[in-house]
Amino acid sequence: MSALTSPRYAAPPRSGNLALISCGYSIQMHQLVYISTLRPDVSLQDLTNILHASMRNNEPDGITGLLVRGGNRFLQALEGPTEAVLRTFERIQKDPRHFGCVVLTSRSVAQRAFGDWSMAFEDYSRRDGTLQDLVTKLLTHVTDVGVRAEFESFAERHSAAA
Ligand SMILES: Cc1cc2nc3c(=O)[nH]c(=O)nc-3n(C[C@H](O)[C@H](O)[C@H](O)COP(=O)(O)O)c2cc1C
Repeated sequence: MSALTSPRYAAPPRSGNLALISCGYSIQMHQLVYISTLRPDVSLQDLTNILHASMRNNEPDGITGLLVRGGNRFLQALEGPTEAVLRTFERIQKDPRHFGCVVLTSRSVAQRAFGDWSMAFEDYSRRDGTLQDLVTKLLTHVTDVGVRAEFESFAERHSAAA
């Protein structure tokens, strides 16, 4: 299966739902969900490079999440220690391969919704079936009502454009 058409499963973060450090403090977990628009000249190689950077950087930083492309839009959820999530998003926002990042959610959470994926990626433009079907499948194990609603509404709005 192509790396770009199937979610990438990475080792779960060592710390599980709540990042604990040895002296007993807990690190605050953060969840950030945003949408953005791809630059028209973004190639398949660019998408591969984005995925590789995500896999390279996210696991060491304790970040998990989901990236979906629907037409010319990205929807991404990033979860992990607050500082790491905000630092990663700073980097992503400056990336010239997309523009117009709009944050849908940026909040502290008690546990991860995407605990097992360093960054699952789905490129709806390369698949059969509807974007709604894809998102429904991706959300099978996601119980967070707010995250589900954001992805489902993204699928609804962008399925026609994909
Ligand atoms: C839509 C989108 C999502 C991205 N997601 C991530 C991500 O989850 N993690 C990450 O490290 N980089 C991500 N990137 C890439 C970053 O913008 C940046 O190029 C990368 O982090 C640089 O990594 P490097 O310094 O290891 O080369 C994303 C880029 C785009 C356009």
